Order: sequence, then C-alpha cells, then structure tokens
Amino acid sequence: MTRITLPRPDDWHLHLRDGAMMRAVLPETTRDFARALIMPNLVPPVVTAAQATAYRDRILAAMPEGADFQPLMTLYLTEETEAADLRAAAESGLITAVKLYPAGATTNSASGVSDFTRVKPVLETMAEIGLPLCVHGEVTDPTVDIFDREAVFIDRVLDPIRREIAGLRVVMEHVTTRDAVDYVRAGGSDLAATITTHHLVINRNHILAGGIRPHYYCLPVAKREEHRRALVTAATSGEAAFFLGTDSAPHLDSAKLMPCGCAGCFTATNTLSILAEVFEAEGALERLEGFASRHGPGFYGLPVNEDRVTLEKGEPVSYPAAIATEDGPVTVFDPMMPLHWRVVA
Ligand code: NCD
Ligand code: ZN
Repeated sequence: MTRITLPRPDDWHLHLRDGAMMRAVLPETTRDFARALIMPNLVPPVVTAAQATAYRDRILAAMPEGADFQPLMTLYLTEETEAADLRAAAESGLITAVKLYPAGATTNSASGVSDFTRVKPVLETMAEIGLPLCVHGEVTDPTVDIFDREAVFIDRVLDPIRREIAGLRVVMEHVTTRDAVDYVRAGGSDLAATITTHHLVINRNHILAGGIRPHYYCLPVAKREEHRRALVTAATSGEAAFFLGTDSAPHLDSAKLMPCGCAGCFTATNTLSILAEVFEAEGALERLEGFASRHGPGFYGLPVNEDRVTLEKGEPVSYPAAIATEDGPVTVFDPMMPLHWRVVA
C-alpha cells in the first residue's frame, strides 16, 4: 500500500496555550486535523464557562486563513467548580468534556483536585448528563515512584471514583502502561483511553540512556519497552476504546533545556506521518482510520468528519526541527526514524 485516505482525523488531547505561542502552533494542528479537544491548563486555568467562551474566541481569532477547524472546549475541574455552571456549559454545547488534574501532577495543575470527595457532586452531575471526564491519571504522592504513578492512580483514585459514580464516562488520558491498557479493556463502554504519538515511539531509554534528552520528557513519563509495546498493540488493535490524543504540548526550548525543564513533547507537526509509519510497521495501516478518525467521535457521540485526508508513501519526508514563535523556538518531536508517509491532500 502506498496511499491511504481516511476521514479527516481529530486530536482528542491538545495543548494550544495562548497568545504568541498559540498563534505559532495552531496552524500545525489545523493543517491536518478537523477538531481537537483543547486542554484548559492555561495560567490561570479555564475554570468557568465564561473563561471557556473567551478562550474559544481567542482560538477562533487566531485561526489561519482558510482553516476549517473546530476547537472542542474543556473546563478545568477544581474543588470550587459549580455543578450549575458546568451543566449550563455542557447543555449550551460550549464544552465537550471536563478535565481532571490531580493537584500538582503536571504542568499548570496547581489548581487541580486534592480531595476527591469535594468534587463528587460535580461528577454526579456529569454522570447524569453524560459529560465525559478526561483524567490525567497519575498520583502525586511523592513517595510513589514516578514510573508507578499511573498504575497506582488506577487502584487508588480512578477505580474508586468509577465505582462510586455509576455511569460516569471517563477518558483515561495519554495512557503509558500495560496496566492502564488492561484496565480500559475491562472497563466497558463508559471507559476509553487516549494514546499519544510519542508514547507509541519512545520508551524511557530514549529519555535517559546515553545522555539526557529533555525533548523526550513528558508526563506521564514514558515507561519500559514492554509498556510501549502494549500501547502499540492497543492503538493498532482496532478496539474502539483507544483513540488518538496527541498531548502535543509546546514549550519554548528555553523552558525545556533547563536544570528543571518543563514536561511536554510537541508532536502536532508530524503526528500523522509518524502514526502511518507506526501502523504500517504493525501491518495495521487499515486500522489507522479507527484510531485517528472514528473511535474518538464514537466515544464522544459526534459525527465522523466528512472531509478526507490522503497520505502517500515515498522518499523520506522531513519536517522542520522547530517551529518559530515570537518568544523563541519550540522543538518538534524527533521520532528517530525515517518517515515515508506525507499528507498530500
Ligand atoms: C502537558 C503540558 O505541558 O501542558 N505536559 C505533558 O508533559 N504532557 C500537561 C499534561 O498533559 O500532562
Ligand atoms: Zn496534556
């Protein structure tokens, strides 16, 4: 096969940031994607419906000319979130999901949740109206090893929440372990997971062996090779519970290349090329369509995009090493393998 056409993909987990950064990275997503679920971890976070409306309007104002792209907004869940505000935001169609960050788990998560009993009424409202909860699934307990934080989160936090709030629809975001894949498989139709591009490509050796590579550092941190293999198997399996959320998370190089550098891989630019390469290597190119274009809308109850994209295989394709912003460069994720698939239409 040297050519594939699929419904225009969606990205179910994207960081667009704001201001100059947003203007620089937005075209990298609108080029290939029809919709993206926009993460609310701005500073300050997008907590209320009014803030989500204003953020959506800033995104629409920054849209490159001719782009046909719909940002799907989320609210950042805090212990002060009001069920009525959230319900109104969902019923008006403003928001597509709510994002749960355990307080302190990752970039800009200080306003997240520490005491899960305090968000129970809001989660009950969400279960009632069918509004999905997107979960950053890592415990923040400093005594838990960083490589175990996802698996421990499932047992200590996620499973108890799902047992207590019957009918709550949950997306376990950017899963990185076999444990999470197994948990999602056993979870039924109210549970799904996003998988990033970079976690299909790197394991923890890529970050740490032979020198430290800050551009491969993201959260959840990449795990052992056996976990990466579990993710590749899940993504290419055709199972509807697994779909693409790139977690493309731009940071200025000056913020990554530091004694204490930021977490996040920027993959918007070359994601489709990388995914085609990964799926082809698994003999699963025909399943890319499910992962990138069908399973996400299926879970969220939205139509599959009618527009199409075509990828063609040929000589190795190169992508810019970095995207320029007014404040400096953002390095594009380097998959460390030649890419042969390019988006041609
Ligand atoms: C994300 C970011 O930079 O906002 N970073 C990351 O490593 N993935 C936050 C997140 O999704 O955890
Ligand atoms: Zn993210």
